[in-house]
Amino acid sequence: MQLIDGKATAAAIKAEIAEEVRRLMADGKKQPHLAAVLVGHDGGSETYVKNKVIACEQCGFKSSLIRFEADITEAELLNCVHRLNQDEDVDGFIVQLPLPKHIDEQKIIEAIDYRKDVDGFHPINVGRMAIGLPCFISATPLGIITLLQRYGIKTSGKKCVVLGRSNIVGKPMAQLMLQKQYGDATVTICHSHSPSLKEECREADILIAAIGQPNFVTADMVKEGAVVIDVGTTRVEDKSHKGGFRLNGDVKYNEVAAKCSFITPVPGGVGPMTICSLMTNTLAAAKHTYY
Ligand code: GUN
Repeated sequence: MQLIDGKATAAAIKAEIAEEVRRLMADGKKQPHLAAVLVGHDGGSETYVKNKVIACEQCGFKSSLIRFEADITEAELLNCVHRLNQDEDVDGFIVQLPLPKHIDEQKIIEAIDYRKDVDGFHPINVGRMAIGLPCFISATPLGIITLLQRYGIKTSGKKCVVLGRSNIVGKPMAQLMLQKQYGDATVTICHSHSPSLKEECREADILIAAIGQPNFVTADMVKEGAVVIDVGTTRVEDKSHKGGFRLNGDVKYNEVAAKCSFITPVPGGVGPMTICSLMTNTLAAAKHTYY
């Protein structure tokens, strides 16, 4: 079994990005600039956004954090999005999700200029991704594809099972694993209403768990020699950890790891790659690589 080290891979990619930023700026180009909008004080979102700001510093990007209280109106938030769309210094921006219930998330996502949508959530980017056109690919699936490539894991012609069908991870992940230029695999998507979920998982050469249920994938669901990617990051109370909680994956790591050829740990697997891919997208936005 080989551990897939997302933390080390992300650090290497961020160093590559920082080097490219140095070259761009030496050529007189502007410093790439990522803005993040954070509404309210959700613990998980605070941590993600803080880590995104740190990653920007590591890559040599400028970053802006725009904070609002949870009682901001939808119209006020839309105004902020419009301002960022028009701000020529901002190359890309994200609105951290989830948003308070009185705000229509989809409306906010669709208000973002797709050329600055480094999260890859806008329907134009989702649609372009689905038919293999240049676009911003949402960060977690892009991070997983990057890990598979950097570890030289063969995916072409393999059987891949994706657990979960969220717009952010499950659906785009399945699309990428299907596409010739990325996974080129045979792909099955399973979810909470799939009757033969366990049997499907047992057939998988590559199993990607993004179901959001801690320890859901047990050893009896994994084929000998499979590649297992754990996207789960459920915050579980744990007084022995800093901050009073720990991150729990979707895979029962202790019993599954021994059966795998490759496996991602939680933390230190997919999580750091998600933020790293957001940096990759921001650099692309600054260079206008996609448009
Ligand atoms: N909430 C959880 N993951 C993400 C993400 O990748 N982007 C944004 N904007 N919000 C999130």
